[in-house]
Amino acid sequence: MDDLVAPLCDMLVGRRFVALTGAGCSTESGIPDYRGGGRAGPRNPVQHDAFLRRPEVRQRYWARATVGWARFRTAEPNAAHRALAALEAAGHLAGVITQNVDRLHRRAGSRRVVELHGALAEVLCLGCGRGEDRDSVQTRLLAANPGWLRTVGEVQPDGDSELPAEAVAGFAVVACVSCGGQLKPDVVFFGGNVPERTLAAAWELFDRGEALLVVGSSLTVYSGFRFVRRARELELPIGVVNIGPTRADDLTQTKISAPASQVLSNLQRQLVGR
Ligand SMILES: NC(=O)c1ccc[n+]([C@@H]2O[C@H](COP(=O)([O-])OP(=O)(O)OC[C@H]3O[C@@H](n4cnc5c(N)ncnc54)[C@H](O)[C@@H]3O)[C@@H](O)[C@H]2O)c1
Ligand SMILES: [Zn+2]
Repeated sequence: MDDLVAPLCDMLVGRRFVALTGAGCSTESGIPDYRGGGRAGPRNPVQHDAFLRRPEVRQRYWARATVGWARFRTAEPNAAHRALAALEAAGHLAGVITQNVDRLHRRAGSRRVVELHGALAEVLCLGCGRGEDRDSVQTRLLAANPGWLRTVGEVQPDGDSELPAEAVAGFAVVACVSCGGQLKPDVVFFGGNVPERTLAAAWELFDRGEALLVVGSSLTVYSGFRFVRRARELELPIGVVNIGPTRADDLTQTKISAPASQVLSNLQRQLVGR
């Protein structure tokens, strides 16, 4: 592993860098990605406009998410998350821009984290903007739908799960406790936009880096790929740790196709020591 990681280490030594992470950073925590193993993308992703406009789409989302969240919330950070937190504490890493919605970077101790696509742990009211903790919403969902968790489904990457339509039709959705408005997880669905202030925070962090390290992202989604494009324009060194192809493969000499936990632990050991 030392030899495999050496080119990345040479690239990053003496340079403060920013990490751009994706679903591949969390697969070793038991959360599946969308495009690893040759898959083409998510099955049945929730579309932003449909969620806002169609009650049956919200019902299906919350019915499935209630099962998904019960499992998703138990995922723990892995060695890749911990190595990034240690690299930040040692002053090598300026911070993490993540496309993940699982909050595992923060739980591993990373301090400067921009969650580009939000976090499933938070829920917002579409009416009054009130925030509510996902666990609190979960308690209310389970009270309104006793025994729901026995309806077991297959976990999906975004904390969703597969359920038959007839089961979903009987699911009771809960509303905002202040205004009775509709609730939405504070994540960017397909077709939704990254909020302006989140993007501004991401660029501010990006500007603190002298190199960009991509970890576990195919970079298919533009909201992540834009940072690679800018790094390229600025002629910043770009490193990639990803099993499988990415849209940055032609833009870097420093790509390592190996598990993120192993590569980043090794990088941490070489740059920081134990
Ligand atoms: N954990 C999460 O929060 C989560 C999970 C799935 C999807 N998503 C969302 O879906 C979108 C997916 O885009 P993306 O680029 O993040 O993911 P992606 O699924 O498009 O790409 C993930 C890449 O990581 C690689 N990979 C998987 N395990 C790895 C490992 N252990 N080490 C190194 N590489 C590994 C895969 O081969 C794949 O190329 C994101 O925008 C994100 O919001 C989030
Ligand atoms: Zn409200």
